[in-house]
Amino acid sequence: MGGSALAFLEATVEDAPQIAELLNAVILARDGTALTMPVSVEEERRYLDATLPRGWVLLALRGTDLLGFQSVQLFSGMLGEVGTYMAAQSRGQGIGRQLTERTAETMRNRQVSCLLAEIADANARGRRAYQSWGFRPARPGTVAALKSQPSEGKTYLELCLKG
Ligand SMILES: CC(C)(COP(=O)(O)OP(=O)(O)OC[C@H]1O[C@@H](n2cnc3c(N)ncnc32)[C@H](O)[C@@H]1OP(=O)(O)O)[C@@H](O)C(=O)NCCC(=O)NCCS
Repeated sequence: MGGSALAFLEATVEDAPQIAELLNAVILARDGTALTMPVSVEEERRYLDATLPRGWVLLALRGTDLLGFQSVQLFSGMLGEVGTYMAAQSRGQGIGRQLTERTAETMRNRQVSCLLAEIADANARGRRAYQSWGFRPARPGTVAALKSQPSEGKTYLELCLKG
């Protein structure tokens, strides 16, 4: 489907199989996620069921092929935790940036104040990507609001959205 246009679509629970497949490829490559065990379609379905009512998962598609996705889990105080996963062959093409621009606009409209990203210190590419999308070192208050115990070996970056 190489000739199809890039499209962005909000996920539903019905997208669980494709999302789990992409996520499992990232997990198996030990490539930028703290997850070490593959997720089942049922687990992904439960995650989407719990996340989507208040949060958001945005898919990047070409035709029916899932190239990547960005998720936001919303917490009290209108803070969200963001995760971004691109298929290996779709990285470095600015698609993560486009996902972030769309996510930020939607979250701003929903009065979300800041998005927090937790990135492994070893994941230099991930850190560079979030920084190039406008994320900055998170203030201790933002981290404390979302993480009862900040993890060792993680970098926290935040993107604050003006009203
Ligand atoms: C991190 C990730 C989401 C970036 O998505 P992407 O669509 O490839 O990113 P973009 O193309 O928008 O690039 C954004 C920036 O990342 C950096 N970058 C992208 N590809 C890179 C590469 N191959 N090597 C080094 N830096 C790279 C560049 O600084 C780029 O900025 P620029 O556009 O100003 O040059 C993607 O690489 C990925 O899915 N990695 C595995 C999962 C992960 O680590 N997620 C982050 C933690 S949730």
